[in-house]
Amino acid sequence: MIAARLAGPADFAGWRREARRLALAGIPPEAVAWLVGEAEQGGLFGPALEETAALVAEGRAELTVPRRFLELAQTVICHRDPERLGLLYRLLLRLQAEPGLLEVAVDGDVARAEAMAKSVRRDIHKMTAFVRFRAVEGAGENGPFIAWFEPEHFILERAASFFTGRFRVMQWSILTPQGSLHWDGAALQVGPAATKADAPDDDAMEAYWRTYYAGIFNPARLKIKAMKAEMPVKYWRNLPEAELIAPLIAGAARRAEEMVMKAPTLPPERHLRQASRQAQAGGQEEAAALGSWEAAAKAARGCTRCELHCNATQTVFGEGPLDAPVVFVGEQPGDQEDLAGKPFVGPAGQMFDRALSEAGLDRNRAYVTNAVKHFKFQLRGKRRIHEKPNVGEIKACKFWLDLELGFVKPALVVSLGASALRSLTGHAGALAQAREADLKLEDGTPLLATVHPSFLLRLPDEEAKRREYARFVADLKRVGGRAPALKLGQAA
Ligand code: URA
Repeated sequence: MIAARLAGPADFAGWRREARRLALAGIPPEAVAWLVGEAEQGGLFGPALEETAALVAEGRAELTVPRRFLELAQTVICHRDPERLGLLYRLLLRLQAEPGLLEVAVDGDVARAEAMAKSVRRDIHKMTAFVRFRAVEGAGENGPFIAWFEPEHFILERAASFFTGRFRVMQWSILTPQGSLHWDGAALQVGPAATKADAPDDDAMEAYWRTYYAGIFNPARLKIKAMKAEMPVKYWRNLPEAELIAPLIAGAARRAEEMVMKAPTLPPERHLRQASRQAQAGGQEEAAALGSWEAAAKAARGCTRCELHCNATQTVFGEGPLDAPVVFVGEQPGDQEDLAGKPFVGPAGQMFDRALSEAGLDRNRAYVTNAVKHFKFQLRGKRRIHEKPNVGEIKACKFWLDLELGFVKPALVVSLGASALRSLTGHAGALAQAREADLKLEDGTPLLATVHPSFLLRLPDEEAKRREYARFVADLKRVGGRAPALKLGQAA
């Protein structure tokens, strides 16, 4: 056996020098013992190459390898597998006779070298991601900082340029079981191996870091397998945030459910105004293209102007004669309307029908619609609980309501509840004042504001129910007064 010795495990210059001499001397791979570190007296192996070169009968004149091999070898040499040095030497020799060898991905030696390179690159990437510096006691803004890291391969010096570039103005040390890096803000020194006890085990910043990590952890996006692939468990022991991972995972399902249940955050008003201006600009063209109620109703079925279409069963467009004297505008379809595809057919609809007939009005002569055409709800178990539409949703849906009003051209519009009033007038204040006022839409159409029938359903005590119902019926009678054609028994 011929010994070839490197100064360190990833000593590429040493390997290159030795490999070249061995190859030029014609030494076959199986005759070489690759050793790392200082020579021991009376070692197991035979003499070094200089002393044995004379034994070699036939040598080569020169060596050629593609650049790709040099790049591959510089990475592979960092692998912890002791066989990497022999593998590279074997590849070097084979490349002399097979210059295109590296292109043969299925070749055993090539595949093994590529797999080693991949593993080394991954380890370098993980080191750049998972080194956590801790301030040494009394450290200033720029350090000194110390990090403890346990790489899988001999990558310390290979990864150094990332840290000197990224943390150039700081003073830092990275300690590992293989060796250490020390940067003083100007020069890098490679030092001996260290132990975990040599590095601080906490610093003032770590509490902030843990808080930040917990804050950015998104339980709704948790994919444990992908997370472990990206942040392998073997690195966890040196990551301050790792102690949070188990409790965060354990609570993820509950937190994700809470997020789903939580009302969406409203975008700032100025975004809504901007979106509405943009929608209006595009909407005018679209509206012009929808020349009939039928075309509009059909187009509304595919509406995606806001998010509500994602969960609702279908669009619930308005219904009624297009020559109706009155348009009633509710808030949005409820659970039953969403399933039936018709407005006001559920409990609120029944209350509405009862009040209409008590006021002597014929619903069949009115056009009935909603400010928002999709059902908005929260899921509680299997139940879909109504949720109020927000301003953005109301504004997005105003496009359809305007079209409906444009086709029907009623003599009177009646808003049922606050959302309808908001949609028709932008009024966001109390309904009580609006109920008494003489209102008009922008185009001059008279508007009468009253409560929503479901308000009557929600009232807790019987006395309030009776009183408010009577007021609602009185409002509807006022509607009949202003639009006699709506009255039951009137000739159509
Ligand atoms: N509530 C409304 O506002 N509209 C409906 O269609 C049903 C309930």
